[in-house]
Amino acid sequence: QQDPAEAAKRKAAEWAASQVKEGMAVGLGSGSTSALVIEEVGRRVAAGLHITAIATSEQSHRQALSLGIPITDFAHQPHLDLTIDGADEVQNETLHLIKGHGGALLREKIVAMASGRLLIAVDPRKLVTKLGSVFTVPVEVVPFGWETTAARLREQGFAPELRVKEDGEPYVTDGHHYILHCNLPQSGLSAENAAEAFNRTVGVVEHGLFLGMASQVVIGSIEGIQILEP
Ligand code: A5P
Repeated sequence: QQDPAEAAKRKAAEWAASQVKEGMAVGLGSGSTSALVIEEVGRRVAAGLHITAIATSEQSHRQALSLGIPITDFAHQPHLDLTIDGADEVQNETLHLIKGHGGALLREKIVAMASGRLLIAVDPRKLVTKLGSVFTVPVEVVPFGWETTAARLREQGFAPELRVKEDGEPYVTDGHHYILHCNLPQSGLSAENAAEAFNRTVGVVEHGLFLGMASQVVIGSIEGIQILEP
């Protein structure tokens, strides 16, 4: 018996991977859904598809290399045609996203910003009517003085909590930063105002609110797929 969430992810991932066309420069996302996308893209590359790719995390980078997907960098490829990534939450009308619970939000945002099209692949559990109703917003901060950065986020109502590993030590991102999980509903701010507040807070490198960035969201289910556009 197949896990329905897993089957839904795979359906979304397969459709997303089918959007990769010959000659494209592609951004590869992070997380379990993106891993399925990369697997499928790897299969197509092995069958003769020519693309170049940039990954949004060390893990996705390693997976892509192991599958023989040609990897490039922004020095050689400043613009990407398409990026396919997952999300933690998708607001069903605006397609605003929370991303970064896999810890890769900074590279994910850099890659998304360099892409002509950002395609988000999810299973139906990711859809929400109010952003922040299930997940916190991960905010990537510089380790130096992170306590003071957290204090300023606390003053703004975000109730930040340092992300730690199982051993209790701080989780360190690919960019060597820490992550503070911030509570959006508790702040009473809209996603737009919260994004501005994060951007204004010294010590914050980037936040996991991806507002107005998704070009399309593909939602998989056992029956098939549904495409949302803003
Ligand atoms: C990684 O930092 C995240 O933004 C992922 O894209 C997100 O957590 C989705 O992951 P899953 O596909 O595993 O749910």
